[in-house]
Amino acid sequence: MWKRALVLIVYLCNVISADVQFRVIRQWKFINYTWSNPEAYRSAMENGVYVPQNIVMSGINYYKNYFYIAMPRMKSGVPATLGRITALPGFGTAPLIEPFPSWDFNKLDDCNALQNVQNLEIDPSGKLYILDGGHTHSLMAKPTKNCPAQLVVYDLNKNMTISKYVFPENVAKRNESFLYDLVIDDDFVYIVDNSASDPGIIVYSIQAGRSWKIRHSASMRADPSAQNFKINNHVINVPINIASVALGPKIQRSDSGITVNQDRELFYCPMSSLHLYSISTAILQNEGNSNNDQEYPGQVRDVGRKASQTDGMIMTNQGVLYYGLLSDNSIAQWNSTKPFASGQKILSRDVNYIQWTNSFTIDTNGSITVLSNTLQSFIRGDLDTHRYNFWLLSADIGQQSYIHEDPSIIYQPVTSEKPPLPVPSTTEMSTAQSNMTAVTKSDQDGGASQQILELSVIVMAVSVWVFYSN
Ligand SMILES: *[C@@H]1O[C@H](CO)[C@@H](O)[C@H](O)[C@H]1NC(C)=O
Ligand SMILES: *[C@@H]1O[C@H](CO)[C@@H](O)[C@H](O)[C@H]1NC(C)=O
Ligand SMILES: *[C@@H]1O[C@H](CO)[C@@H](O)[C@H](O)[C@H]1NC(C)=O
Ligand SMILES: *[C@@H]1O[C@H](CO)[C@@H](O)[C@H](O)[C@H]1NC(C)=O
Ligand SMILES: *[C@@H]1O[C@H](CO)[C@@H](O)[C@H](O)[C@H]1NC(C)=O
Ligand SMILES: *[C@@H]1O[C@H](CO)[C@@H](O)[C@H](O)[C@H]1NC(C)=O
Repeated sequence: MWKRALVLIVYLCNVISADVQFRVIRQWKFINYTWSNPEAYRSAMENGVYVPQNIVMSGINYYKNYFYIAMPRMKSGVPATLGRITALPGFGTAPLIEPFPSWDFNKLDDCNALQNVQNLEIDPSGKLYILDGGHTHSLMAKPTKNCPAQLVVYDLNKNMTISKYVFPENVAKRNESFLYDLVIDDDFVYIVDNSASDPGIIVYSIQAGRSWKIRHSASMRADPSAQNFKINNHVINVPINIASVALGPKIQRSDSGITVNQDRELFYCPMSSLHLYSISTAILQNEGNSNNDQEYPGQVRDVGRKASQTDGMIMTNQGVLYYGLLSDNSIAQWNSTKPFASGQKILSRDVNYIQWTNSFTIDTNGSITVLSNTLQSFIRGDLDTHRYNFWLLSADIGQQSYIHEDPSIIYQPVTSEKPPLPVPSTTEMSTAQSNMTAVTKSDQDGGASQQILELSVIVMAVSVWVFYSN
């Protein structure tokens, strides 16, 4: 009944699934903060330290009645890159963001502070893993690359930084890495590097304090045939590499009653791809598979085909994947114990509220919350701060996040439906090179090239439609 007490109750109109109903729990036209005093706010406004239309939320994570929020410094005028708001119902619809853990910890151009938080993840003990890409202003004329990419671990219960890990150059290139998303395993963190030149999955061993990268071009680089899509009349037509990641539960395999294997599957996909892939965590955890910074010579699993491109997903501890379908303005679900081709289900579709689902989190009450952030407008620089641009959409799913391991759950994912991918030839892949920066550049071309882009998107839209109707 407590949910009825929400200040804002907007149910998404185009509901497809009767059992999972999303509602809008927060919505913002632009991001504003809990300023220390009116003078701090006024001077930040005047000096360009705070530029409301330049701030986007990209990542969200729940812990103990708060949502922690990443606000990457892709443009100038982002005074704090990490913040939080209450997750409790009844606290207004567009809350001010509280810089976290403090204003100082968010100081621009101070490599000891957070520079560019793209995403974050929180383990059950309250350790907040902050993915800080280091370089800032990637969408501005003059990007800044003064600070290296780092993973900062902050203890939310003790209010203190536990560790800071700076990635070495061979793992995350100072000038070219784009650390985009992450998941936490017991002693490992798996991080997606969306880099144009060197995409891959970075594996960080918490105990060893070391990292390496697994590279697999056939599954981690953009598929040129899937780079063109449209979301609310905005065309995206650049190849974008691996961007989304989700971790499955431990797979229980027993051999004469003895559990012999506790590996998990890590699910991932490039943004420019219609395929979902997975790789065993046993492969990732073996540093030898970084193959001296060359391609991983083995195979990964091609799970199957989705109806659209994806940016952000999460798996529950029962192995159910939730993900966005960007050009379809929808949120989808797949129970990974069932075949991918027949087991995918669209839960909700809405052209107004579901505009670029960038991040998913699940609270301890069994509610999933999705961050929808109109990134397609933001990257083009036409975010209209007089309209709503950011939404938190929640639905009860009665499940827990992958992060809450439940030994009573016997999980066996469906076996591969498709033959594993062959090892790619490097020449095949050399054309697929891009990044989010390239999205803006191509969008700003405008004029004639834009019309060609729109033409090719129609072809794309038709093929998506054909895919649906089959
Ligand atoms: C931003 O928040 C401050 C309070 O921290 C408030 O005084 C100010 O009016 C807000 N600005 C806008 C444009 O809403
Ligand atoms: C979770 O459920 C409890 C008990 O019903 C409630 O008090 C609390 O507000 C809920 N938390 C959130 C984040 O909704
Ligand atoms: C940590 O900070 C919160 C406020 O943000 C406070 O309520 C809590 O008591 C602090 N905990 C410790 C151990 O200092
Ligand atoms: C990074 O780029 C800057 C200029 O853009 C260059 O001076 C520097 O050498 C580059 N660093 C590396 C490690 O490539
Ligand atoms: C993005 O891609 C462009 C061209 O593809 C390249 O020149 C640029 O260095 C890349 N930037 C990053 C941060 O990878
Ligand atoms: C997933 O599918 C399996 C097999 O049909 C079923 O037993 C399980 O309850 C499903 N899980 C959820 C969370 O719906």
